[in-house]
Amino acid sequence: MAYEIATIPGDGIGPEVVDAALPLFEDAADAAGFSFETDRFDWGSERYVEEGAMMPDDGLDRLESYDSILLGAVGHPEVPDHVTLHGLLLPIRKGFDQGICKRPSVLFDGIESPLRGYEGGDIDFVVYRENTEGEYADVGGREHLGFDNDVAVQSGVFTRDATERIVRAAFDAAAEREGKVTSITKSNAQAHSMVFWDDIVEEIGEEYPDIEVERLLVDAASMDFIRRPEEFDVVVASNLFGDILTDIGAIVTGSMGLAPSANVNPDGEYPSMFEPVHGSAPDIVGKGVANPLATVLSGSMLFEHLGEQAAADALWDAVTDQVADPDAPRTPDLGGEAATEDVVADLRDRLSV
Ligand code: NAI
Ligand code: MG
Repeated sequence: MAYEIATIPGDGIGPEVVDAALPLFEDAADAAGFSFETDRFDWGSERYVEEGAMMPDDGLDRLESYDSILLGAVGHPEVPDHVTLHGLLLPIRKGFDQGICKRPSVLFDGIESPLRGYEGGDIDFVVYRENTEGEYADVGGREHLGFDNDVAVQSGVFTRDATERIVRAAFDAAAEREGKVTSITKSNAQAHSMVFWDDIVEEIGEEYPDIEVERLLVDAASMDFIRRPEEFDVVVASNLFGDILTDIGAIVTGSMGLAPSANVNPDGEYPSMFEPVHGSAPDIVGKGVANPLATVLSGSMLFEHLGEQAAADALWDAVTDQVADPDAPRTPDLGGEAATEDVVADLRDRLSV
């Protein structure tokens, strides 16, 4: 079976981590007895600067036939962030109906958490983030531009379909894990959308009597991600809240450079997209020290999604094996001095399927 994977390395450290990780993915596929081909799409901020658009008008059509998409990161200091996000990432997530964003936060053995007293295995949760609407809906506008009374209006959009879909996915995941769902809202302040969300959690929760349901307001949740991260199992949140909380999840488990994510189209009608949680990291770009592990773990999630569990496990296990080894190369974000390439070379030696 030969899969076809589209790669969009993007900006900044995106190409560094994607290019470094691909040979490792080929090793894992070879060993597991399948193969894949990649086509590289050089879309992103450079294209925007030269041609006025992050991707071509028919970008989604060109991606649609692929089995999966692997993305690095987008974002450039000279291009406004809303342009890079709305010009590439959000159109793919929305246009391919990738309603379920899965972001695991695992504190691996050998990784030091900035939280005192936590050791490998103590933190292990996954955030299910609604990924197509909510606070990221493109509904609103600006008026009276150029006058002193200019105004901005931005509305959140919460549909029953998308909300039920993410909540149900979270309950299904909890049934396979520790049996607990934590739903994040701000229903005290946002009494329409977030109370709607609460109602749906309640309805769907009735279908899963064995799952424990916890509800937290997002401000309290931000505190609890730091105060008691060990108590979370599956966390379900809207687009914005999920985005914010997963940065906290990434850092309490060691580094942005370790956090993977999957943007899943649940019906399989369109390709799903896999990407590290981090951005283009302009502060370290070109130095060759970007941590490739978030991309490697995202590759593991990609293979798992394709049903290639052996290759998925091989990548995940190579990472856990490496970070547990005090003599293994580490990039500076994990306290080491190694280069991106050294980390990948070491992973290739550790890979076993
Ligand atoms: P960032 O994730 O790029 O960087 C935050 C911090 O984490 C920086 O100190 C960076 O050096 C470090 N870091 C991130 N990834 C790392 C890795 N693989 N290895 C080692 N260190 C790593 O977030 P920031 O600085 O807020 O945003 C930079 C640009 O990226 C902006 O233009 C932003 O819009 C964009 N961005 C894009 C995202 C995406 O493509 N999904 C997500 C987040 C931000
Ligand atoms: Mg983010």
